[in-house]
Amino acid sequence: MIFNKELIEQIRAAFPRATTDFNGRKRAFFDNGTATLVLGRAAKAETDARINCSANVGGIFDESKQASAVIQAGRVAVADFLNAPSPTTIVSGESATALLFNLSYAIGKELTGRENVVTTDYEHYTNVDPWEELGKRGKIQEVRYTKLNMEEGTLDINHLQELIDSNTKIVAITAASNMLGTKSPLEEIGKMAKEVGAHFVVDAVHHIPHGPTDVQALDCDFLIFSGYKLFSSHGSFLYGKEEHLNALKPFKVKPAPKNPPGKFEWGTRNQAMFAAISGVIDHFCWLSNEVQSNYEGKYVEYSDHKRELKIVMDAIEQYETGLSKAVLTGFDDIPGLLDIPEVTIYGITDLERLNERDPTFSFEVANIPEEEVVTRLWKEGGIATRAGHYYSYAQDVYKKPKIIRISLVHYNTFEEISTFLKTLNKIIKNR
Ligand SMILES: Cc1ncc(COP(=O)(O)O)c(C=O)c1O
Repeated sequence: MIFNKELIEQIRAAFPRATTDFNGRKRAFFDNGTATLVLGRAAKAETDARINCSANVGGIFDESKQASAVIQAGRVAVADFLNAPSPTTIVSGESATALLFNLSYAIGKELTGRENVVTTDYEHYTNVDPWEELGKRGKIQEVRYTKLNMEEGTLDINHLQELIDSNTKIVAITAASNMLGTKSPLEEIGKMAKEVGAHFVVDAVHHIPHGPTDVQALDCDFLIFSGYKLFSSHGSFLYGKEEHLNALKPFKVKPAPKNPPGKFEWGTRNQAMFAAISGVIDHFCWLSNEVQSNYEGKYVEYSDHKRELKIVMDAIEQYETGLSKAVLTGFDDIPGLLDIPEVTIYGITDLERLNERDPTFSFEVANIPEEEVVTRLWKEGGIATRAGHYYSYAQDVYKKPKIIRISLVHYNTFEEISTFLKTLNKIIKNR
């Protein structure tokens, strides 16, 4: 296994709340799709930035200079993480939702009302309503939704291809569904978008902690992700191709910078958010060094820092694929979700295709209300998860306004999965 027991313990030690909550209650945190736990180092960097460089940028004194330096370092860290060509292609904002509205308004200024936007039936609403809003304001004709292969929870790629035409200006796709865990075939979709000269926009918010994200390999025009889904603080990042960031005219106040990234950034920057994300990238570099002996001769086309980040995300992806398998197949004496007849899983369950999904599982249990399952998982097993609506369009397509979801990341363990499955099996048996 790519992470041995000792290394997993070290990873967990880097997250102050990996094992217990603030009350000291031991629990397994399986609600990462909603927000990941904070890395200790990110929280510390954030606090230090708040205390030491709370001043605004542009002053001649040290605190102000340091604020600028922290912001710049954060942009470089994010650019390297995404393999973006330059830190000036990294825009920060309050949330992915805010950044996508900002982007849609800016792109909307260039549209005539004849265009369309193509998206999918499994987006988060963050990647739906900023485009629907363009329709309401007469900037586009319509938003088109790609159907799903409902049985397996994947995109109907032929349908997506049919929806794209010469009037398609934007193809906006999630990197992974936050309900189903399904990863989108982004490279293939990006090529379809390019064929008609449409902007290819990727919502990487759900997928970001689970595997490598490479904006140049994807050749995407824009990509967003949020810090609180990547072990950091709230606040989000948008990558944009330099030519688009230069050309677009976002809503801005007159004295704000004329050039990117500043021209897209509304109000004063939060340096602490940049400090925190740098802390996360440092954690990834540490972990990368721990596993690098497995990667001799691999990813050598990337420069040092970018190579480290590629390696770590590849390793995380491998580890998490193992977690997905354990959730589905269980252990010698504990049935996995696939072996429990009362459980219905939404999303890919084919063990040969686990590389097409993130370890996010939405499921229901026959004859037991969702709330009861999650409450008992919590009370009897210390499993922190939830049932609800995750702003996923897919939930409306599947007509599942409330669904139980577990979502795992690289600090989760096989032991935790074993406790989860044991408890779930007990809940079903003892009802
Ligand atoms: C795929 C996806 N996109 C967007 C969002 C919303 O991100 P934010 O809260 O930063 O606006 C989420 C949050 O769950 C998400 O999973």
